[in-house]
Amino acid sequence: MNETATLWWDTQTQSICYIDQTRLPADYTIVQCHSIARLARAIERLEIRGAPALGVAGAFGIALSAQNCKKKHLHTFLSDVHRDAEILYATRPTAINLGWGIERVLEKIEHVQDITSARRIALTEAMTIAREDTISCHAIGNHGASLLPDSCTVLTHCNAGSLACSSWGTALGIIRSAVHGGKSVKVIACETRPLLQGSRLTAWELIRDGIDVTVITDSAAAHLMRTSSIDAVIVGADRVTRDAVFNKIGTYMHAVCAHHHNIPFYVAAPVSTFDAKKTESDVIIEERTREEVTTIGNRIFVPSLAGVKNYAFDASPINLVTAIVTDHGILRQPIDIDSILSLKSTK
Ligand code: MRU
Repeated sequence: MNETATLWWDTQTQSICYIDQTRLPADYTIVQCHSIARLARAIERLEIRGAPALGVAGAFGIALSAQNCKKKHLHTFLSDVHRDAEILYATRPTAINLGWGIERVLEKIEHVQDITSARRIALTEAMTIAREDTISCHAIGNHGASLLPDSCTVLTHCNAGSLACSSWGTALGIIRSAVHGGKSVKVIACETRPLLQGSRLTAWELIRDGIDVTVITDSAAAHLMRTSSIDAVIVGADRVTRDAVFNKIGTYMHAVCAHHHNIPFYVAAPVSTFDAKKTESDVIIEERTREEVTTIGNRIFVPSLAGVKNYAFDASPINLVTAIVTDHGILRQPIDIDSILSLKSTK
């Protein structure tokens, strides 16, 4: 299995390196990012995307800000880093990991004695977050693999794979771990309109690992769940509140459909994705540009006078989820979100 990192810190150039996900599958391009403005743009454009990867990007962003800041006094240095944190925060509102990664590094440098220590501590913490993310994905993979039959077909939506994390993946991490353990898993990847994370990214990374993958249009999922043997649906999450799982738009229709057809609906997410004190109504669902829906390449597919709504995420009520596979184990129905609070505080 390929364990290439999705984003990392390059010590020589003091920059964040990442695979540009907007260019896959046609081009495999590594970008070197030297500024917060560029990183913010990369996150907004989904060059870096996926909740855990956004957590790592946020953490490296604070480390980058600390390395770049030229201020000589600790107080003004920290206020500049906090200003950069706000810029990164504002890029994408739904995935909780972005803010989580930013906060974790900010907390570490809150009480430092000098700027040199702040720079060193910020970078060390960001690298720790990246490393821990891969470890979490493997833990999710090992826990979740036990849920799958020896031979099965799994439907997934969007990309919750190595590209959405430091490496390995959450939903695809389960599939990788199952295949690694000798199970035969076929994957149905929903293309995931409008930005096609399923057909471009999930299919690309599974093919790279030699895992059987078939791409379908999003609207074909219900038909397949009714007429052929989908053994499980596995998706990632951008945020898990007390009552709902937020994930890529379209996930809710899979949850409803899986429930209707008695197909297990699993969510794979590290503890860092839980927002256990909040409920669905507290969360902002990101809305993106009209052009993402109306235009493919240079061609326009929607009349200019038609309204367009481009929701990036939806919420699936927790009662539709068969189990949540976390890095600390599996939460089964009745899912007790409070049990996550104690797990979170030990991290
Ligand atoms: O808009 P994106 O591509 O960042 O959305 C990503 C998803 O919805 C993923 O399923 C989610 O972040 C989980 S990634 C392990």
